[in-house]
Amino acid sequence: MKNRIKTYIQTLLLLIIAVFTTTAQVQESSIPHLRKQGNATQLIVEGKPFLILGGELGNSTFTSLENMAPVWPKLKALNLNTVLAPVYWELLEPEEGKFKFQLLDDLLKEARKNELKVVLLWFGSWKNSMSSHAPSWVKTNQEKFPRAKDDNGISQELLSPFSSANLNADRAAFKALMLHLKEFDSKEQTVIMVQPENEIGMLPAARDHSKEANLKFEMAVPQALITYMQKHKENLVPELYSAWEQQGFKTKGNWEELFGKGEHTDEFFMAWYFSEFTNAVITAGKDAYALPMFVNAALNYKGRKPGEYPSAGPLPHLMDIWKAAGSKIDFMAPDFYNPDFKYWNDLYVRQGDPLFIPEHRYDNTIAGKAAFAIGHYEAIGFSPFAIESAENPENQPLSKMYNLLRQLTPILMANQGQNKIEGVLLDKENEGSVITLGDYEFTFNHSYKLGWEDAAKNENWDMAGALIVQTGAHEFYIAGNGIYVTFKNLKNPDLHVGILKVDEGVFENDNWKIIRHLNGDQTHQGRHLRIFKEDYKIQRLELYNYK
Ligand code: DGJ
Repeated sequence: MKNRIKTYIQTLLLLIIAVFTTTAQVQESSIPHLRKQGNATQLIVEGKPFLILGGELGNSTFTSLENMAPVWPKLKALNLNTVLAPVYWELLEPEEGKFKFQLLDDLLKEARKNELKVVLLWFGSWKNSMSSHAPSWVKTNQEKFPRAKDDNGISQELLSPFSSANLNADRAAFKALMLHLKEFDSKEQTVIMVQPENEIGMLPAARDHSKEANLKFEMAVPQALITYMQKHKENLVPELYSAWEQQGFKTKGNWEELFGKGEHTDEFFMAWYFSEFTNAVITAGKDAYALPMFVNAALNYKGRKPGEYPSAGPLPHLMDIWKAAGSKIDFMAPDFYNPDFKYWNDLYVRQGDPLFIPEHRYDNTIAGKAAFAIGHYEAIGFSPFAIESAENPENQPLSKMYNLLRQLTPILMANQGQNKIEGVLLDKENEGSVITLGDYEFTFNHSYKLGWEDAAKNENWDMAGALIVQTGAHEFYIAGNGIYVTFKNLKNPDLHVGILKVDEGVFENDNWKIIRHLNGDQTHQGRHLRIFKEDYKIQRLELYNYK
């Protein structure tokens, strides 16, 4: 009898544990999260992969309902599905420990009405290498909340990451924000990701020279970084590897002993402590509500030394350091005010990390780059900055491109991570691009190369961008603008490749609807698939082979 009661109690306990674990798992997986599919990382929202067709608001736009009122219709007209918007520490916690969530709640309700998701940017301790959004009770109490100092010992408008008071204050505020979001939003899931801090960076010196920072600089390099470097030695970014190599791959010592003397070491050191601080903020936030969290970087211009650009942020040459100190950071993201789009993106993905572009200057390249980022890098999303500045939003190239990407989202999401998607970005300097999908090789050329459009005579060519998805052995969808495409059979080069069918169409409720069957002049009598520069189209292509 006793034994039977024992077994009964044990079974009951196991059942209770199982129910709790499952509930926890369901809760965990039903909030927005990242998931791998093949070699791609997808953002899962409401159980489905979500492609961010985004735009970031100017810094002071999300500060009142009145100010946002004319912006919402613009965002809709631009075909956005997500807006990136700041939460300002100074407005959230005007008095220490007293939080004001009303404005945020009201704005989130408006976003819901407009069927927009939100990525929140935490303008906390740092915003573009400064601490301008810290509340006044932080700014005016320098004794308690110390600033970073330059190499002359001069205090900067930049909170020092070496102060535990600074960390505690930021962490408490961010945790309060995330707890509130959990309560206010975990059912609706309006907020799908969070970016803690903004463009963290050290200026005008490569590192903080406050007393606490100087002490840390003399201390041993944290064991966690050394262990990381040993574990990932073959895959470290070259800047870290070569500095370490020049010091004989030492596994003990202070920063200068391990990496040599110079601004590069100052920057490594600073990157570690920026990342450690941010990771602690993120950990507290995720303990409350574990949304995906990423950090963004102001890209450095080539030829400048640390201290001359916002240093020590989550930059490609510091990725290993940021990762080693920041295990809770989901990924690092580049902000583009810098023309070298492919160069920087390649650096961000070289260790297999996902790509997300939270900011790109609002210019005439963004439509093409959105298609390229989502096609070539299978990016989580794209988001030009100061999105509300767009005039005549419905006629903007971005609106037209987002319209195509929105229609294609289910197909793109189903095929991510399986080498079935590619993208091209073309202009006068890069007028062609060759890609391979399945048995075929595709040569994409800028449509101006045909010389059939008036603007082809211009000195500069507008950027064109397109993507292609393979949906069958001989079936592909191609979307974008300013391209013509020819084909080869790679598997059997003796065979000629012909167009069996090209249809222009739209996806309506995920169903392909043909608008025009193209041939004759529209395919140059079967020689190519073509979309002119001013057209933004989706075409379905079927190829065949002949001897
Ligand atoms: C990058 C920052 O992250 C944005 O908040 C904004 O300041 C832009 N630069 C430039 O206006």
